[in-house]
Amino acid sequence: MISIKITGTGSYLPPIVAANSDYADIVDTSSEWILTRTGIEERRLSSGEPTWYMAQKAAEQALMSADTDPGELDGIIFATISGDYTTPSMSCVLQGKLGAKNALTIDINCACAGLVYAIDIAYRYLLSGFNKILVVGSENLTKLADYSDRASCILFGDGAGACVLEKSEGIYSSQLGSAGDDGTAIFARSQPPQNVFMTKGSLNEYDRLPLGNKHYITMDGKEIYKWATRIVPETVRGVCQKAGIDKSEIDWLVLHQANMRILEAAMKNLDLPMSKTYTNLQKYGNTSGASIGICLDEMNREGLFKSGQKICLVGFGAGLIYAGVLFEWGRDN
Ligand code: UT7
Repeated sequence: MISIKITGTGSYLPPIVAANSDYADIVDTSSEWILTRTGIEERRLSSGEPTWYMAQKAAEQALMSADTDPGELDGIIFATISGDYTTPSMSCVLQGKLGAKNALTIDINCACAGLVYAIDIAYRYLLSGFNKILVVGSENLTKLADYSDRASCILFGDGAGACVLEKSEGIYSSQLGSAGDDGTAIFARSQPPQNVFMTKGSLNEYDRLPLGNKHYITMDGKEIYKWATRIVPETVRGVCQKAGIDKSEIDWLVLHQANMRILEAAMKNLDLPMSKTYTNLQKYGNTSGASIGICLDEMNREGLFKSGQKICLVGFGAGLIYAGVLFEWGRDN
């Protein structure tokens, strides 16, 4: 059947390195608490680089490794929850910066499932005749982090990951969805409605939640934790069933880098060894829509992917939203 192949990858990590001990200076926490509860040791923070800039750096690497000229791209799909502008979109800005003059441009707001959603959307464009699509996840999460909330600010990092996708032969399946009624488990608000004629305050129910009137990420970590440890195995089983393979046939299961305990619980639930997953949250924390792209680039550069291997990607996060795709590493990469 028609599938996808990843012909190039790239990533960008900004220069500031924030260790766990740095957070003990600003909130009531300790390096040991952060390490044992999350697995995170340090994360990279933007030193002022905008979201588009990190995306451009990752995209240029991905294009170079795919031996692709920006003009050959038919589309750019950009996953982010931390764009630089309300408008124009990040994909439009990136298209201009890259000089990808033939590419259509789409931004998607799918939080930590963003890159996987982007890949599935790209697949559908490839099916309809497109040849080369750039997918990118880029996040400046630390601009949404509440540095007075010890339970959330310690999690987040900034960065970008990108892949060039082309059509291929092989297996492909996906399972995507959301649990929008659980949206208050993690959210960050935008500008409230306001105009000179308004007589009442906001009618948005989220605004009445504790901290709901701030633009920072507000999170019920435990709720997300419980949901994630259930939805990740369910999604993996779903994509395997659709592709007609057993989960034990997966060579690499690349999960959104949220928390080491979530990853361990998911692998245990699936009865798969930790050696079949890849983790870099120790170095980068949770980079939302960028995390899976950064993993793919590191794994590619480390030569971990072999022709014909079955790769499963699963993202999950604010929405609540989840996405899984299963495909083979290109035989003609
Ligand atoms: O991409 C999706 C984004 N969100 C996530 O992935 C979040 C998923 N959830 C998690 O990663 C975990 O739930 C957290 C790391 C956020 C929290 O870990 P936990 O084991 O679920 O801790 P908890 O919320 O049950 O809190 C246990 C205790 C609480 O104190 P009390 O009430 O027992 O006295 C917290 O106030 O730990 C306290 N606590 C901290 N203590 C030291 C919370 N944050 C910290 C901290 N340092 N940074």
